Order: sequence, then structure tokens, then C-alpha cells
Amino acid sequence: MLAAVTMGHGGQDETVLRADWNVPDIGPGQGLVRVTAAALNNTDIWSRAGAYGTTENPEAIAGWRGVPLDFPRIQGIDAAGVVQDVGANVDTSWIGRRVIVDPTVEYHGEFPVRVLGSEVDGGFAQFTLATEAQLFDVTDSPLTDAQLACLPTAYGTALGLINRAGCAPGQRVLVTGSSGGVGSAAIQLLLTRGCHVIARTSPGKAEAVRETGVAEVSVRGLDPLADLAEVDRVIDVVGGDEFGELLDRLRDGGRMATAGAIAGPVVQFDIRRLYLRQRTLVGSTMHTPTDFAELCETARRGAIRPVVGGTFPLEELAAAQARFLTKDFVGKLVVEPWAQAENT
Ligand SMILES: NC(=O)c1ccc[n+]([C@@H]2O[C@H](COP(=O)([O-])OP(=O)(O)OC[C@H]3O[C@@H](n4cnc5c(N)ncnc54)[C@H](OP(=O)(O)O)[C@@H]3O)[C@@H](O)[C@H]2O)c1
Repeated sequence: MLAAVTMGHGGQDETVLRADWNVPDIGPGQGLVRVTAAALNNTDIWSRAGAYGTTENPEAIAGWRGVPLDFPRIQGIDAAGVVQDVGANVDTSWIGRRVIVDPTVEYHGEFPVRVLGSEVDGGFAQFTLATEAQLFDVTDSPLTDAQLACLPTAYGTALGLINRAGCAPGQRVLVTGSSGGVGSAAIQLLLTRGCHVIARTSPGKAEAVRETGVAEVSVRGLDPLADLAEVDRVIDVVGGDEFGELLDRLRDGGRMATAGAIAGPVVQFDIRRLYLRQRTLVGSTMHTPTDFAELCETARRGAIRPVVGGTFPLEELAAAQARFLTKDFVGKLVVEPWAQAENT
């Protein structure tokens, strides 16, 4: 099969295209998924770079669990497709069904500990394996395969943040990184929940973000955060220099949930503003099993419509990831492992 195989920690050149990679053998309890779409995420790039650091050494080369990955590894945390075949002890009625793959291969309680594309091979290939518990039937969803592939990480993380922050209808919720994968997902999910959404975004994307239906747009570099009326919740995926100011926008007893550090992982804030105002800061990674089931139900109903900022054949993964890093688009970028093959 065609696969993008990452050979070690490092840059883009560590990922090589192989047209002769073996289709994986299906084990008991597993399904073989013909991957029709795989969305791009920062975690694939950070994992290849080994950019997660460790508690002891923030500069250490490590995957998200604080240890180096095993190589060779097919990355790609997000995969959607069709079940091609199943192993022993799996209901054969899965064969032919359209699915989203829960990237979490193993949870400890409600916490993901092994995920697709990091601890096991993922979606940047024509086939991938998933346990039966990872398969979620979305055959009847009105979403395209490319839209479905956007859901697991971006929407799963967004829903995890929203649920951990306890966002409720009518609340004022400030979202950062609004044009990005998780931010745009959070906006859609919060709007379906009936929240008053305030989007923090960059100047070039303010208009596109406004069109998503948010109540207010606050532009980085133009609109001081201090000018915003207080909010009930903050959903942050950016970190960096504005972290302390974001926390300070919360009302007394408000809650901020954080899942990302794209503007910088080491931040400063005044802890007096945290405890005197009785605010809560919550760390959140990915989703719980309950969040994922809720997400797939939402996808089946078509209640959310992920914005696909572009699609690429898997052969163009390097170009797709380079585009992804420019951040000059809105929504998610997706690779399609069968696109080129079908066109030739
Ligand atoms: N913990 C988890 O489970 C988890 C899961 C998924 C992602 N993440 C992390 O969450 C972050 C966002 O992920 P994503 O998939 O949404 O990324 P993305 O699609 O690349 O979007 C990131 C957005 O952040 C904003 N941004 C970029 N650079 C910035 C900067 N220097 N300062 C402020 N804002 C900046 C931009 O939005 P605007 O132009 O609209 O401001 C950009 O579109 C990343 O750090 C990622 O690693 C964590």
C-alpha cells in the first residue's frame, strides 16, 4: 500500500513515501480501515520533531507521553474511511461501513494514553488498523469523508475543553486560535450549545471568523483584551504572551480550559488574580470516551459542518504540512490516500 512512513525524530525529510509498504495484518478484535481521508494536526508535526519535552527537561526530544516514539511509524492521528475487513471476535457487519476512528487506542479511565500515529500506526496510509472499540459508524452522516476526518482530534479536543470547562447555554465564552482546527471546532460546538461566543483571532482572518456566526470578534494586535467585558469561560489553545490577560478576562469563579501552546508553552500570570477571584484553570487533552460518542452522534445528525480548508493526495503530504504551518487558511487541511491512485 501507499504510506507516508516516518523514520525518526526530525524534520519533514524524516517522512518518506513508500508505495510498497505492507498492508498491516489484522489481529483479533481489530478492523482494517481503508483510509479515505486523514486530517492534518500539529501533533503529527510536534511528534515527528519530538517537541513535547519532559517534566525534567522541556527541551528533551520526546513524543506527547514524554518518551521518544518507536520508528518506523506511520503518523496521522485522524482517520476516516470504510471498514475493509475484520479480525477474529469482531462483528462482520462492520465490513463496508463508513467510520470515524477514535484515535485513542487505550484509555486509562477517561484519559487517552496510546493514540493513533504516535504509539501505533495511523492514518497517513491507504489502510490502518483499529480496535472494534475505536470504530464509530457514520455511514449515514451527511458529512463528506474529508469533513469526518476533521472530527477526531480538533473536534474531540474542542469538546473535551468545552465539557471540562463546563460551558453552558447563554454563557459568554472567549475562544482563542479561532480560525484554527480546534478553535473553529470549539466555535461550532459552542454555538450548537447556545453560548455567546467571542472569537480571538488574527487580523487577516477576522472576517472569515465573523462569518462563522460568533457574537463578537476580538482581533489580536488591534483589540486589547482588557477592553472585553468579562466572560464566564475561556477556551484557549494558544498560550504564549496573552495567557495571563486571558485568565484575567474571567468573571469571579470563571473557568479557563487550556489544551495548546502554539504561541509559546511557558507562560506568566499573576496567581493572585487566580485565587482572589476564585477562578479555575483546567488542563485538557483530547477527549473522553463519552465526549467521542457525543461527537459521533453530532456528526451522524450533521449538526456540525467542519470547514475543510483544502485537500491533498497523500503523495503531497509534505506540501500539505508546509501549507498547514503557514496558518494562512481557515479550518482543516486533509490528505486523501486514494486520491492520486484513483486519478491515474
Ligand atoms: N492537548 C490536546 O489534546 C491538543 C489537541 C489538538 C491540538 N492541540 C494544540 O492546540 C493548538 C491549536 O491546535 P489546532 O489544531 O487548532 O492548530 P491550528 O489549526 O494550526 O490553528 C492554530 C491557530 O492558533 C492561532 N495562532 C497561531 N499562531 C499563533 C500565535 N503565535 N499567537 C496566537 N495565536 C496563534 C491561529 O489562529 P488565529 O489566526 O485565528 O488566531 C491559528 O490558526 C496547538 O498548539 C496544538 O498542538 C492540543
